[in-house]
Amino acid sequence: MVVYHLSTECYPVAKVGGLADVVGALPKYQNKIKDIDAKVVMPWYNKSFVYDHEFDMVFDGFIHQGPNMLQVQVLKEKSNALGFELYMVKIPGLLDRDNPYGYEDESFQFLAFQHGALHWLSAMEIRPDILHCHDYHTGLVPFMIEYCPEFKFLKGVKTIGTIHNGEYQGMMSWDMANYMPSFDQYKWGLMDWNGYINPLASMIKCATAFTTVSQGYLEELFVSFRGLESLVRDEFGKAYGIINGIDTEVWNPETDPMLDFNFNIKNAIAQKKKNKEKLCKEYGLKPELPLFAFIGRFATEKGADFLPDVVWRSIKQSYGALNIMILGSGNSYIENKLKEYDYIYTNFALDLGYKEYLSHKIYASADFLLMPSRVEPCGLNQMYSMRYGTVPIVRYTGGLRDTVEDISTGGAGINFTFPGVDDIIHAINRALLVYNQKEEMENLIHANMNFDFAWEKSAEKYIALYKN
Ligand code: ADP
Ligand code: GLC
Repeated sequence: MVVYHLSTECYPVAKVGGLADVVGALPKYQNKIKDIDAKVVMPWYNKSFVYDHEFDMVFDGFIHQGPNMLQVQVLKEKSNALGFELYMVKIPGLLDRDNPYGYEDESFQFLAFQHGALHWLSAMEIRPDILHCHDYHTGLVPFMIEYCPEFKFLKGVKTIGTIHNGEYQGMMSWDMANYMPSFDQYKWGLMDWNGYINPLASMIKCATAFTTVSQGYLEELFVSFRGLESLVRDEFGKAYGIINGIDTEVWNPETDPMLDFNFNIKNAIAQKKKNKEKLCKEYGLKPELPLFAFIGRFATEKGADFLPDVVWRSIKQSYGALNIMILGSGNSYIENKLKEYDYIYTNFALDLGYKEYLSHKIYASADFLLMPSRVEPCGLNQMYSMRYGTVPIVRYTGGLRDTVEDISTGGAGINFTFPGVDDIIHAINRALLVYNQKEEMENLIHANMNFDFAWEKSAEKYIALYKN
């Protein structure tokens, strides 16, 4: 069975968040299963990966986007270094950028990616068994292969749409239809939601099946989905919640080259302490105190707007008996407020930016990882932290509630229900109680490291769905 994953991100080629981790790992694990050939198609980016690897040009052609004729090249990475065939679609001016997102003409960029990829497959008469589309950036693919004559070679190919984040739907005005490959005008309703082209809604309507990255999140979408609640209820019959795994080869504390001191479950207590001491020294924190960490985008969906208040209140209320470290960037109000506190409080350290190596060090060094998300379709941070023996403190939502059970019911993490500073502080206080009971804390570290979040099980679930 041949599966093509279409995505705008893939680790380690280009990563903004968890989408990259999933698309960089899932196909690799799928390929370990008999008779599965999973590949990835993504836009070409001006990133170090493309200069460090050799590529073959497998296609060179043209598409029309409105009045513009665009050159489309498809480059295949020669050595299958990632454990799957990687194809990068290059379109000068649109798909040769430094980063996946953040451009004013993103709608043109993502339309060009979908159009270019399908044009290549059709022109070369490559007919996959499954086209697996990730998030709204590839959400129009199921519509396009059915209703754009240009892709008639692909008509009938089965499609899976995976919703990694329903907060982003890619809505655009109907004017943009002029920049799509021409399509059967009578089918316009399959792209429409409330007077806009909505690629995520179209994916739900047109894909053979669609999935969310946890069962918990799927259930939440019925009641909270930025206006698509009734659609997901109508299409429930083809909806599946499949939890993400983690790449245990990349995220292995025993071999991770980004750590100062590697460890396994046997020597975790001592080695984590050494990692923590080194990190605390670098950032002027106090290694003898518990270390709470946050890693992520400063967005309201992540609850990052609570962080400034959490920093000052937790430090004040504990009389300075804890450290907090934050790695991330995003909303400038949050950034500025945190910078101010970084200046005021010696128990607080801030590193603004995206630093893959530092995230690994923090997962290995921290005692607790905070995830106060308002919305969390799956969340990978909590699983990385658990694998690295760090106790997750999470809001009970989406994938977090599917992966982290509270200590009060026999789990190895801490849950809280309401997204707000009071509840986070209460959870931190519970964590401090645990931290001060040495034996209990050590048991928790071991229990977390023992969890199995390997991709194998979820990779199998996707294959079962493809076969179905
Ligand atoms: P999302 O994709 O919504 O941001 P996930 O929990 O699925 O959330 O994945 C986030 C991924 O991005 C994880 O691999 C996490 O370690 C990483 N990450 C987030 N922010 C940073 C940062 N500032 N520096 C390094 N890695 C980060
Ligand atoms: C999205 C979600 C996150 C999930 C990731 C990978 O970025 O916000 O919760 O883990 O996709 O599926």
